[in-house]
Amino acid sequence: MNESFSVEPAILGRDLKDIEKYGSSGTAYIGKVVMSSGEKPVLGRKVLVDVSRPHLILVCGKRGGGKSYTLAVIMEEMARLDPVIRSRVSTITIDTVGIFWGLKIPAGQNDLKDLSEWDLKPEQTNVKIFVPKGQLAFYQEKKLPIDGAFTLKCSELEETEWLALFHLSWNDPEGILISRIVQRVKEKVGTYYGIDELIGAVKSDTDAKEETKQAVISRLNLAKSWGLIEKDGTKISDLATPGAITAIDVSSYRQTVGAEGIKDIVVALIGKKLFEQRMLFRKEEEIKLITENKRASKMPLIWMMIDEAHMFMPKDEANIALPVLLEWVRVGRQPGLGLILATQRPEKLHPDAISQCDIFISHRMTSQPDIKAVGAIRPTYMTTDLDKLYSEMPRQKGYALIIDDNTEKVWMVKIRPRFSWDASVTASAFLI
Ligand SMILES: Nc1ncnc2c1ncn2[C@@H]1O[C@H](COP(=O)(O)OP(=O)(O)O)[C@@H](O)[C@H]1O
Ligand SMILES: [Mg+2]
Repeated sequence: MNESFSVEPAILGRDLKDIEKYGSSGTAYIGKVVMSSGEKPVLGRKVLVDVSRPHLILVCGKRGGGKSYTLAVIMEEMARLDPVIRSRVSTITIDTVGIFWGLKIPAGQNDLKDLSEWDLKPEQTNVKIFVPKGQLAFYQEKKLPIDGAFTLKCSELEETEWLALFHLSWNDPEGILISRIVQRVKEKVGTYYGIDELIGAVKSDTDAKEETKQAVISRLNLAKSWGLIEKDGTKISDLATPGAITAIDVSSYRQTVGAEGIKDIVVALIGKKLFEQRMLFRKEEEIKLITENKRASKMPLIWMMIDEAHMFMPKDEANIALPVLLEWVRVGRQPGLGLILATQRPEKLHPDAISQCDIFISHRMTSQPDIKAVGAIRPTYMTTDLDKLYSEMPRQKGYALIIDDNTEKVWMVKIRPRFSWDASVTASAFLI
């Protein structure tokens, strides 16, 4: 990590050939290299992270360590990419805490000093914040700056998703009934139906017991009250538009009893749709290449950012979003799907998310099981004495170790201050 002063930025996640060809364009300026020890270390050259190609970036660190803040910095950078590159990139963030609306508001007076030390100014960022339709009024009442509502298209929920949503299994009488109903309605009306049609089909079912029917109807009514699942759902293409930075706020369901599974379904469906869309794009591209012998426009890139990723990709539990995200992790890079996962519990995260990541950003970690989980899956990190590096890390917020597989180097970095309002300080006050 010792390095001399240099004015050239360090570009992580990009090989030399690409650096020669593209320089620093298509990168995110996330911080500066720490040059000395102590609590107020000397900072050196800029640290840029390549976002022009898909990567799997894992952001770790204990609670309050700066993970969400770092995600916000990356989102700010996505919005400031060169216009040509930006028009080929869509960023979609799953906001589990309800904090990324702060990006729309310039940083306040308290942050001016930090920003000016970095030669930066408060600025708003052009992000689009979507909340579940059923929660729209709540957000509007609180005067939170949001751009619109989203819904899921009822017919896009397969039997497995309904089971997950209601915490049912294939063996439960209710599970059997809901699966049968979904199939039946699909066969009968195709893809245009809502929860009312499902309730109607339950009522006219002649095979199930009355109590089972009532149990399923009450669950479906509950699902209706969430205001999320409708005949017409939001088109994924409206969420992931080229050049746009979108945050999907799923935080409001945290407080709703029985609705814990909703955020999982949202991630599962969005992840699945984006994956399918990319695969289709690739196929069309290949066909063009064969039939017209020409390469279509370059593959647009999709970045999905997931805060609190251990909730969707747990190690020892089932989760409806898990298989979808594992696809992203394992084969997503080829069709242009980049993933940025943040978690305070690497020990609880599916090991593939650790083993496949190529850029590892770690804020301070103190829990030994979490440090071990990372070290055990990433042998290269074992040779680096993580414990020692964490102990050398300044205690103040915003410092991180970055391990880049591309350069096989470890960097101690101070994450740059945000341009925008840090809503994580105030979010809880809004959501009680
Ligand atoms: N790079 C940074 N610069 C300055 N303050 C930071 C930085 N990172 C985090 N903080 C401060 O620490 C608080 C907690 O950070 P946060 O990102 O919410 O933690 P986490 O998501 O890891 O729980 C933030 O609200 C902010 O005040
Ligand atoms: Mg956080």
